[in-house]
Amino acid sequence: MEEKRYLTFALTKGRLAGKTLALLEKIGITCEEMKDKDSRRLIFVNEEQRLRFFLAKGPDVPTYVEYGAADIGVVGKDELLEEGRRVHEVLDLGFGNCRMCVCGPESAKELLRHHERIRVASKYPVIAKDYFYNKKHQTVDIIKLNGSVELGPIVGLSDVIVDIVETGSTLRENGLAVLEEICPLSARMIVNRVSMQMETERIRSILLQLRQQLA
Ligand code: PRP
Repeated sequence: MEEKRYLTFALTKGRLAGKTLALLEKIGITCEEMKDKDSRRLIFVNEEQRLRFFLAKGPDVPTYVEYGAADIGVVGKDELLEEGRRVHEVLDLGFGNCRMCVCGPESAKELLRHHERIRVASKYPVIAKDYFYNKKHQTVDIIKLNGSVELGPIVGLSDVIVDIVETGSTLRENGLAVLEEICPLSARMIVNRVSMQMETERIRSILLQLRQQLA
């Protein structure tokens, strides 16, 4: 009999990876090799279950899945919105809950209210642009940053930021606040469009078990 092809998972490095592995373990999907924290390996295999796993940066996960380099991905909704890749979003995994918000000093509230032409710093220029231009009909200047975005209003680079708020402690410790909420976020499972058809049974079975586990 022909051996089953590997089903490949692209997981997001960092905060989401541990939670994803813990959830998959509950439905019997395991990868012992991946638990070795000191390992520098990038790809892990479960021969018995014919599964492969790799860790990637959040924004790259939808790219791997769109091109079929991974059949299944786990990634934050923020990256899905920002990257706009053509993938099936199949499941809200219920962890990694946070909010995409417009944040800044309280004084920036007036600028927002009067639809002033403000500067907005963000790691998420697509989400920021969509929010201000399409939802608020406000012309703004968007400045792309790659991290520690809270610095923007503090050092005078921007009036506000568009960023993820989880506990709110980064904002509090830097004298900033949530000014407007854009949307809630959480970890999502995504599937390659061709894999969904070619591997329907295996993928459906995983989704069914995950749904039961999450219910
Ligand atoms: C994220 C986000 C905020 C912070 C929010 O940053 O960009 O800075 O977490 O979390 P909190 O509300 O619980 O304080 P991350 O730690 O990923 O680093 P980065 O800013 O360098 O991207």
